Amino acid sequence: MDSLLIYGSYGYTGRLIVREAVARGGSPVVAGRDGRAVAEQADRLGVEGRTFDLESSDLASHLSSFDAVLNCAGPFVETAKPLVAACLEAETDYLDITGEFPVFECLRQHDAVAREAEATLLPGVGFDVVPSDCLAAYLDEQLPEADQLRLGIKGGGGLSRGTARTLVEHLGDGGVVRRNGRLIQVPTAFRTREIDFGGGPEHAVTIPWGDVVTAAHSTGIESVEVYAAAPPWATRGLSAVDSLGWLLERRPAERLLKRLIDARVDGPDERELATGSAVVWGEVTDEATGRRACARLRTPNPYALTAEAAVTAAERVLDRGRQISNGFQTPASAFGSGFALKLEGTERELVTAPDRSDDPDESTQVAAESE
Ligand SMILES: NC(=O)c1ccc[n+]([C@@H]2O[C@H](COP(=O)([O-])OP(=O)(O)OC[C@H]3O[C@@H](n4cnc5c(N)ncnc54)[C@H](OP(=O)(O)O)[C@@H]3O)[C@@H](O)[C@H]2O)c1
Repeated sequence: MDSLLIYGSYGYTGRLIVREAVARGGSPVVAGRDGRAVAEQADRLGVEGRTFDLESSDLASHLSSFDAVLNCAGPFVETAKPLVAACLEAETDYLDITGEFPVFECLRQHDAVAREAEATLLPGVGFDVVPSDCLAAYLDEQLPEADQLRLGIKGGGGLSRGTARTLVEHLGDGGVVRRNGRLIQVPTAFRTREIDFGGGPEHAVTIPWGDVVTAAHSTGIESVEVYAAAPPWATRGLSAVDSLGWLLERRPAERLLKRLIDARVDGPDERELATGSAVVWGEVTDEATGRRACARLRTPNPYALTAEAAVTAAERVLDRGRQISNGFQTPASAFGSGFALKLEGTERELVTAPDRSDDPDESTQVAAESE
């Protein structure tokens, strides 16, 4: 993996990703804006380090000798644009681990220019959105005529500082759903429903996740909602974020929350990484016939999965034999719906297979599969 540059390599998730890449025998070049942190990491791991910030006017010249850049520096609303622009100039493939829907939408709009530059743009190669994107594509294969997709996430196993800061960055932005091909701004916690993540029905609430962009690209389904498991009291709290006029006081409150996060949030420790788990649930329906398919995907700790998924995705993009298409890609459009099952500890279960007879209420139960 000599021609991979990992930017934001010394952050919590960047470190996990670099560790995984090196453990596989790769020698990625580590990079970021803090020269001391880069040098310390590069020396410790015996790899090359590069220091530059994203305001640098000659950003493309830092990237032109690499086949691919894997961006781990978030919030990605701040880092993706300059790195993508530089990658397109340098004709270098771009990957990242964002989960932020505005970033996915922005990169999707760079599709044509990326094709012209013969570069691949592959955001979301972490827990957001590898399992949900692959599950969406799998469900679409089960019911190709489906026109509605709902996804649900139940995560466990700790939060990193960067994830918490990214959540704060987007607090007060409200929610988003996809309806008939358009991204629609909706209030925070706009809709609730019960979802069975495997242990019986649980309360879940809409969240503005990247799948509203990526799942539509992977499946062609143009109505998408994403939910997260959350107790009812949390739903009321999220709704209050809107009604308290958060927007008016946003910047000072954001600064305070970020200071608290920096002081108190440290990311999952080794035990949490080894023991945490998550479940992604998905359901597709065809409104006209009422046919429906539903499936679940179990994963290990989201950060452990992110490290493995990101390195596997980067290896595949660098593997010339695989010929990943140029332009905007999602994990499933690049590698197929089975990609998530290649990752350790994942297991998929088709809960409700669509009935092929004329009776839409008849459905069959199908057993779990993994690789
Ligand atoms: N897709 C997923 O499932 C998934 C999983 C894990 C994390 N994430 C996302 O990944 C991001 C990083 O998370 P983390 O836990 O690694 O956070 P972290 O420990 O705070 O690390 C963030 C890294 O990004 C760098 N960075 C931030 N803003 C930058 C900028 N404007 N220019 C250059 N470098 C910048 C930081 O460098 P400095 O220290 O120099 O500021 C640091 O290296 C977050 O947005 C998080 O939400 C996504």
